[in-house]
Amino acid sequence: MRIFSGIQPTGDKHLGNFIGGFRQYAQTQELGEGYFCIVDLHSITVEHDPRDLHDRTLDLFAMLIATGLDPERSTVFAQSHVTAHAEACWLLSAVTSYGQLGRMTQFKDKADRREFVSAGLFTYPVLMAGDILLYQTHRVPIGEDQRQHLELARDIAERFNARFGKTFVVPEGIYPDVGARIMDLQEPMRKMSTTGGTEQGTVKLLDEPDTIRRKFRSAVTDSGREIRRGDDKPGVSNLIDILAVATGRTPGEIEVAYDGSGYGDLKRDVGDAVVALLEPVRGRYLELRADEPELLRLLALGADKARAASTPTLEAMYERMGFVRLGQP
Ligand code: TYM
Repeated sequence: MRIFSGIQPTGDKHLGNFIGGFRQYAQTQELGEGYFCIVDLHSITVEHDPRDLHDRTLDLFAMLIATGLDPERSTVFAQSHVTAHAEACWLLSAVTSYGQLGRMTQFKDKADRREFVSAGLFTYPVLMAGDILLYQTHRVPIGEDQRQHLELARDIAERFNARFGKTFVVPEGIYPDVGARIMDLQEPMRKMSTTGGTEQGTVKLLDEPDTIRRKFRSAVTDSGREIRRGDDKPGVSNLIDILAVATGRTPGEIEVAYDGSGYGDLKRDVGDAVVALLEPVRGRYLELRADEPELLRLLALGADKARAASTPTLEAMYERMGFVRLGQP
């Protein structure tokens, strides 16, 4: 079975990315052949600083290894190192509906927040579909916020297969049972995000332990005193989910364990549990990040493996669409 997922290098990585992304990558690489991509081409769809993109690509690569990906076993690589991604995006744009792209909620949210809306922001989901389809992917571990993009990738695969003959596996998403949508600690009605969330309500993976504890201590809770999940209790539900993930218990077990306790106890314990979860990651990350030549060696290894895996699909796409091919280059 092939597994593929991608993560953007820009913006500080946060607890939502850890739970919906990193943690799932390390788990799903055990299911089969894993491809994990730093989607640097996606990061230029909103205004970016070139220096920042460069450094954060290396930061993220170190973080992917620090959180458990094995670059020798799985293929961990940067999207821009494999030109098939940009090519696949163009070819797939022929079978992507303009109307459907305009209905993507992430596009609408991001476009609403800025004056300059790039064409790339609009076509972003086509690039993402290409990422996935190039590898004949069966499963895509992602958080809930990427569901609509994955559904679009499935539609694109089906449309291409119907028009040009079966070329792609139609992929399925894997969403975490708990924590598929981690919310901002200060504004629990919106998702945790370094671009759209609050500073205090976003726990970054490299925050100091004291900062993490403080952010949880000041988390917004709800009216009432019971520690239980519910639509009327978005703040407490979010804390329960985070504690469940960090301690390996179910949310139900946590509700039972905290019956009769106060919000203060819950907030303290979630903070401690998240510090315990992230501290070893931080240590490994700092060590790996210090050895840039080794990171570049491993990135080159990933690029070679990703090129070899994606080339046959790209070739099939060109051929089936009717392009003249010149044989082996
Ligand atoms: P990105 O870089 O925004 O996020 C990486 C992963 O983190 C998950 N995530 C969350 N999960 C739970 N709660 C949250 N608050 C939260 N915020 C983020 C995301 O769902 C994602 O799994 N478009 C993608 C990158 C991408 C991709 C792909 C993913 C490009 N090509 C192909 C899968 C397959 C994105 O911007 O993710």
